Amino acid sequence: MRIDILTLFPNMFQGVFQESIVRRAIDLGKVEIHLVNFRDYTMDPHHKVDDTPYGGGAGMVLMCQPIFDCVRSLKTEDSKVILLTPGGKPYRQEMAYELSHAKHLIIICGHYEGFDERIKSICDMQISIGDYVLTGGEIPSMVLVDSITRLLPGVITDESHINDSFHNQLLDYPTYTKPRVFEGMEVPEVLTSGDHKKIEEYRYQESVRLTKENRPDLFDK
Ligand SMILES: C[S@@+](CC[C@H](N)C(=O)[O-])C[C@H]1O[C@@H](n2cnc3c(N)ncnc32)[C@H](O)[C@@H]1O
Repeated sequence: MRIDILTLFPNMFQGVFQESIVRRAIDLGKVEIHLVNFRDYTMDPHHKVDDTPYGGGAGMVLMCQPIFDCVRSLKTEDSKVILLTPGGKPYRQEMAYELSHAKHLIIICGHYEGFDERIKSICDMQISIGDYVLTGGEIPSMVLVDSITRLLPGVITDESHINDSFHNQLLDYPTYTKPRVFEGMEVPEVLTSGDHKKIEEYRYQESVRLTKENRPDLFDK
């Protein structure tokens, strides 16, 4: 998979893609990530990429031209163009699964007050990572890249993400490791029983309990 991230702040990504699972996916050749500064595409003599909003109001708005030209220079018939915006579709694990099958993702990070509405015309999807407003699309794009990359075949074991939260609309079950007793808190007996059927049943019941408690919306689905 190839991922192009269109950003005005490529330095924000230093470190994030050089550690842990994303780093492993890059080293294994499962994903290629390119940071593209769309300021390099502006035709403005002063390298401007934004301007004041028509109709007045606060903040600056990203202009069409640099982003249109940048996307057009990268886009192929295999590309999916994603615009990050708080007004987009809420990001879910099932979307991460769907996007992990794409060959090429182009992710546009907004900044400032937002972007010219016409930029939506060159995008296939608009995604929000949650009901809050961040300064820019850089952190949301890291969220997408991390969640998608770990699903690429061969990056982590299939068993790891099949047991993760949101698979089958359930939250993950609680896990414990050594020691068996820590500051008076004991590991549930069933987990040390060696009875795999009972362990599986216990974990399923715990997933159901936690989902009902913390995410009744998921449980109702
Ligand atoms: C300060 S925000 C603009 C917010 C915009 N005025 C609004 O209220 O929808 C600047 C940029 O950050 C990104 N952004 C902020 N919050 C986001 C979220 N929850 N999900 C996805 N992108 C977000 C978007 O790319 C957005 O264009």
